[in-house]
Amino acid sequence: MTNVTRNDKSSRIKAPIVEALKHAYENPSYQFHIPGHTKGKGSLPEFRKLIGRKALSIDTTDEFDGLGTLHPATGPIKEAQELAAKAFGAKKTFFLLNGSTAGNLALAMGLTSKGKKIITNRNCHRSILTGMIISGAEPLWLIPNRFDEWGIWGNVTAESVEEMFKNNPDAGMVWITNPTYEGVVSDIKSISAVCKKYNAPLIVDEAHASLWNFNEHLPASALKLGADAVVHSLHKTGGSMSQSSMLHIAENSVIDADAVEKSLRLLHTTSPSLILLASLDASRANLESPRGRKQIEYAVQNAKYLRREIDKLEHIRDLKPDFGYKTDITKVFIKDDRLSGKRLESILEIDFNIEVESASDEGLLILSNVGNTRADMKYLVKCLQQIDQTVYSDICYLENKKYMPMLTPIIKMTLREAFYSHKEIVPKSEAIGRISAEVIAECPPGISILLPGELITEEHIPYLTNYDCIEVIR
Ligand SMILES: Cc1ncc(COP(=O)(O)O)c(C=O)c1O
Repeated sequence: MTNVTRNDKSSRIKAPIVEALKHAYENPSYQFHIPGHTKGKGSLPEFRKLIGRKALSIDTTDEFDGLGTLHPATGPIKEAQELAAKAFGAKKTFFLLNGSTAGNLALAMGLTSKGKKIITNRNCHRSILTGMIISGAEPLWLIPNRFDEWGIWGNVTAESVEEMFKNNPDAGMVWITNPTYEGVVSDIKSISAVCKKYNAPLIVDEAHASLWNFNEHLPASALKLGADAVVHSLHKTGGSMSQSSMLHIAENSVIDADAVEKSLRLLHTTSPSLILLASLDASRANLESPRGRKQIEYAVQNAKYLRREIDKLEHIRDLKPDFGYKTDITKVFIKDDRLSGKRLESILEIDFNIEVESASDEGLLILSNVGNTRADMKYLVKCLQQIDQTVYSDICYLENKKYMPMLTPIIKMTLREAFYSHKEIVPKSEAIGRISAEVIAECPPGISILLPGELITEEHIPYLTNYDCIEVIR
């Protein structure tokens, strides 16, 4: 097995897919199968130079070179999934190649059906809506508190979930996003107790929380707090490659894991990228190694350092990690009292070559990642200090205003019914009073402004600056 922590002989971390891919690279075969670029020889030379000959040599799919298969999981892939389950504290883990989106779609397809009522938060990711369009399930919306000054949502409370069960005895499942995009954490333990009382499974979309199980300064993962299934976008913060995620089934889960697996099989490509699968294997191996744990601790300490330095500034502030909710300290949301978040983002980008995770009208989000060094943070601090001492004007015409959607939907049709209805496209100005036929959600954060089946009102218009036309029910 690969010793991915060669410097630390006391802890040999296994990474079976990485090892199998290395073996295949070192023992190349004469290849008469897909992918047709055949170890890069059929690629555009400029591309080959950019990505590297070696990367193309190991670009292969399952079934070949003794690498195992994804569906059903066999060989090194099966072993890697089992190691991931152990590392994250799950009964079973599935590797995902279309991000957590694939996990959410499979959960919706496998666990819900037409008319099934699901309690979920309004600020859920669009993939949960897509899942319900596919299965025909219907959301019961929890509307968390809003913090208009920062343009963000609060958490989901156990009381609001209980209230929803009382008012909707037919509610069959709870699906919570934890944390929110900006890192606000819900009390999953209490929510889980409510779910158990009402005999309903609890699914937690932890797309942004793949580090939590590996550091005591970060919140506890829902897998430890009573959730039945959890998705993690390892590619977001865990260090794997873009698009790669995991779906975990909890130890004492009451859900039908086979149904979820069958759905995944239907949703997934039949040619999974071994590079992406290896990157999940490597990410898990790194996170649980002493080296990876140190990197997570640096990410926490770097975030603390950044927040301490921001405290000394005159105009720029950070959303405090204890602003009334528990939060993930590595997600640093900042604002400059004189400027919109979009304007601050463009100053950082144009004047200082800094790219942040996202910006809204109110502020912007900085991620302190496992790959960031203290030197990165020092540069960022220096730039923020300079901006703080400079007079900038808020040139609004340069940036389209972008707000975090914070609306309470007025539902006229189910998601599925609306999505499959006859539709027409109308200018935005004529859309008020019509029923939306599409999901409008800008990414990031992928939280919907409009849902299929939702009445379009004047309230929506400021959120739709990027849209001239809207698809509505005919
Ligand atoms: C809360 C949440 N869930 C799910 C997703 C989908 O994740 P992925 O990009 O891995 O498909 C996202 C993506 O931004 C998200 O923010």
